[in-house]
Amino acid sequence: MEAVHVTAFSTDDPLSGLVVGERPEPGAEQPLPEGWTTVTVKAASLNHHDLFSLRGVGLKEDQLPMILGTDAAGIDEDGNEVVVHGVISDPSWRGDETLDPRRSLLSERHQGTMAEKVAVPRTNLVPKPASMSFAEAACLPTAWLTAYRMLFTRGVLKAGDTVLVQGAGGGVATALITLARAAGLRVLATSRDEAKRERALEIGAHEVFESGARLPVKVDAVMETVGRATWSHSIRALRPGGRIVISGTTSGPKLDDAELTRIFFLQLSVVGSTMGTRDELASLVTMLDATGTRPLVDRELPMAQARDGFAAMLDGELFGKVVFTR
Ligand SMILES: NC(=O)c1ccc[n+]([C@@H]2O[C@H](COP(=O)([O-])OP(=O)(O)OC[C@H]3O[C@@H](n4cnc5c(N)ncnc54)[C@H](OP(=O)(O)O)[C@@H]3O)[C@@H](O)[C@H]2O)c1
Repeated sequence: MEAVHVTAFSTDDPLSGLVVGERPEPGAEQPLPEGWTTVTVKAASLNHHDLFSLRGVGLKEDQLPMILGTDAAGIDEDGNEVVVHGVISDPSWRGDETLDPRRSLLSERHQGTMAEKVAVPRTNLVPKPASMSFAEAACLPTAWLTAYRMLFTRGVLKAGDTVLVQGAGGGVATALITLARAAGLRVLATSRDEAKRERALEIGAHEVFESGARLPVKVDAVMETVGRATWSHSIRALRPGGRIVISGTTSGPKLDDAELTRIFFLQLSVVGSTMGTRDELASLVTMLDATGTRPLVDRELPMAQARDGFAAMLDGELFGKVVFTR
């Protein structure tokens, strides 16, 4: 089958190891594990995780070639339209899959989603509503699920609360803005770029600001994926007792000033968040179906042209998700 896969790692030129070509179908070389099934992929979306994989982060040479992709929507063996939850937990694990120390994401230990077919545990499938296209559904399992968990599970935010989203252009940040608005929150967002600030307003932010700008109000929570470049501003934006939820460090994990004094004196909470559970993915799908809210797709490309999508992400020229369709 045709699959987008990595054959060699390169830190400086990650696209050099990217191949769109033939790979064996799931189950062709060894039988699927018990309880697993295959999904015929109709759409798969791109994440930074895929660029990390091309650089060799989280993979070893002896795992190559590895099919990339953590997100997919498609058709299961019974003909049902499904969304694929990409977190694979240990068969013995019970409860929140994101807390399983032995969990992996598709394309880390098991072949990924950018292919004609992907194999997953049957319990990782979530029904796709008819109202949602395969391309829209394929945006949800990583960036949108991460945003959902950040806002509602780890951030404990509710209608009427005020949230600040840092770095408005990213896949997670655009999901945060859209979901927060759909849930009845007051949404503030920052970006270094004027065009991205304009787009943030279009997708649901009530007010936008340059990165680091003084805000007119203190917020209940900050959603942080930028890291070093915005951390100080995030801490200063919080009301006493507020919380910062962090799921990424795009500008780097090492802080110039962790703002420890403010953290204890204002009794702030710093909360980590990673991916989301299968049940949170089901809730996210229901939320989008019920509200009519849809993921923002920057571009949709045939899977055979995946290289162009990877190059656009590498250049940082995206606003929303890149989706590969078949
Ligand atoms: N924990 C998880 O489960 C999980 C899941 C998905 C993603 N992530 C992580 O979340 C992070 C965000 O990923 P993403 O794909 O949404 O977005 P991204 O493309 O990594 O960018 C996020 C935003 O960061 C801002 N930014 C970058 N460098 C900056 C700087 N020096 N100063 C100020 N702002 C800067 C940019 O905002 P502006 O240009 O608008 O200023 C950009 O739009 C990544 O680190 C990713 O690995 C984690």
